[in-house]
Amino acid sequence: SPLEQQLKDLASFQVIAHRGASGHAPESTMAAYELAHEWNVDYLELDAQITADGEVVVFHDDAIDRTSDGEGAINDYTLEELKALDTGTWFNEENPDSADTAFEGAQMLTLEEVFERFGHDARYYIETKSPQLNPGLEEALVETLEEYDMVKEGRVLVQSFGQDSLLKVHELNADVPLIQLVWYYPSEEDNSRLVEWTGVTPGPEEITDEDFQAIADYAVGIGTNFIYEGEEVIDADFIRQANENGLPVHVYTVNETEEMERLMEIGVNGMFTNYPDRLLELVE
Ligand code: G3P
Ligand code: CA
Repeated sequence: SPLEQQLKDLASFQVIAHRGASGHAPESTMAAYELAHEWNVDYLELDAQITADGEVVVFHDDAIDRTSDGEGAINDYTLEELKALDTGTWFNEENPDSADTAFEGAQMLTLEEVFERFGHDARYYIETKSPQLNPGLEEALVETLEEYDMVKEGRVLVQSFGQDSLLKVHELNADVPLIQLVWYYPSEEDNSRLVEWTGVTPGPEEITDEDFQAIADYAVGIGTNFIYEGEEVIDADFIRQANENGLPVHVYTVNETEEMERLMEIGVNGMFTNYPDRLLELVE
């Protein structure tokens, strides 16, 4: 089945366009997704949030200030209000070298608009963002995934830092393949706090086969950072042990070619990048 094929494909290296080709075009806009899709990435990565009137939109930050001309919490606004914002012009101001007048006035996307545009011709790596700030997101997301046959057709992974959010998705539809996101620090002490925060795994120094198996009970892979304040937080042993427990490891967010090369050497199974063009060049 297409879903089985998708899971099989996770055994090979995956190029994941982080918020679209967001190094080249404003993140989470159609321009960024169009570009990544043209380049034939394995996944379009997007962050899902819920509007005040219950619509699922594609947007990363909890607040709209950084990447739009509005201000305040995204969840306080209706879709109509969010649609009136310009989510492209900030990029031109911040990135004069990549600026394009076509980005001006870019509208925030709904998840449905992304699905309408690319349909089953793309795969989507969807994050339930800030689950505590987005009540009802899991229900609305799963409903949309089902409406567009995204799960059956092997088109979607759902990722989250919140284990609860992932488990909620599974209660709604047990077939949705899940990715547990983690965030590691270089010190064991800091990592011990993660258990409290995410409900998942101790840090890479202490993680056991049982910990990996506890993730493998509900998830098909792990997404992790690789560096924190210049210090690497995962190594080849971590990847090997995760893989031995059936979990591919996808690393975020890797933008420099040298870092991509080093991470490929230690065996990572995929990367989230704002520059999928750079990564595709290495993979091909
Ligand atoms: O989803 C993987 C990575 O995107 C997590 O970090 O903050 O970019 O959503 P963030
Ligand atoms: Ca994300």
